[in-house]
Amino acid sequence: MFSWTSLLFLLCSALTPALCCDWLRHYRRLSNNSQTLLHLMGELTEEECPVSFPYKLYRHMYNAEVESQLVFIVDSLGLISDLYHHDNLSSANWDTDKTEKFLMNIHRQTEELKGCVSTNKRADVRLRKYFRRLQRNTLNRTGGGAASWELIRKETKKHLDQLDLLVASIRASAETSRRRSTPTQPQH
Ligand SMILES: *[C@@H]1O[C@H](CO)[C@@H](O)[C@H](O)[C@H]1NC(C)=O
Ligand SMILES: *[C@@H]1O[C@H](CO)[C@@H](O)[C@H](O)[C@H]1NC(C)=O
Ligand SMILES: *[C@@H]1O[C@H](CO)[C@@H](O)[C@H](O)[C@H]1NC(C)=O
Repeated sequence: MFSWTSLLFLLCSALTPALCCDWLRHYRRLSNNSQTLLHLMGELTEEECPVSFPYKLYRHMYNAEVESQLVFIVDSLGLISDLYHHDNLSSANWDTDKTEKFLMNIHRQTEELKGCVSTNKRADVRLRKYFRRLQRNTLNRTGGGAASWELIRKETKKHLDQLDLLVASIRASAETSRRRSTPTQPQH
């Protein structure tokens, strides 16, 4: 028995969770809002961050399964957001109202994605370690001073850029597999 329901089910299991979930539709707009808010907080500092950026972790994710990629994105956004939950956020040079909006937007990005992954998946421990190192060597070293907030914002932008690239690649491979699995010609 081959019904439309089972066809849809087959299609969805081929694509899950990338296209059977709604997140791809909204992600770009929400990410654009986050980027815009970061931009409105002012120019990015030219200071070098004392913690090198984990490009390697991102490169690694390109070969991972979609579910792991989504978990990675959810966790990255969560860890970014954690950085800003700090007693001395008000030392930052920008008005904290923008940070509130930014965090709300990051939260929405995360919620959309969370619905698409099983909650028992955990992110890479190296990602957590990196964020701890980043916090320790910037915010904790200065007690949340203005200059360290500038570094945090600069690194946040790099993360959002990398996440956008990762999302673009997920989107591209989802499109490819959809085209492949669309039964335009019956196969035997
Ligand atoms: C957000 O989207 C608008 C309209 O498409 C575009 O002009 C703008 O450059 C984007 N902003 C960022 C930070 O990507
Ligand atoms: C940084 O400081 C905060 C607040 O004092 C503390 O909770 C956190 O554990 C510290 N982080 C690291 C990585 O030392
Ligand atoms: C916030 O700043 C105050 C005053 O500089 C400092 O005593 C305190 O440790 C800082 N809090 C954190 C969590 O870094």
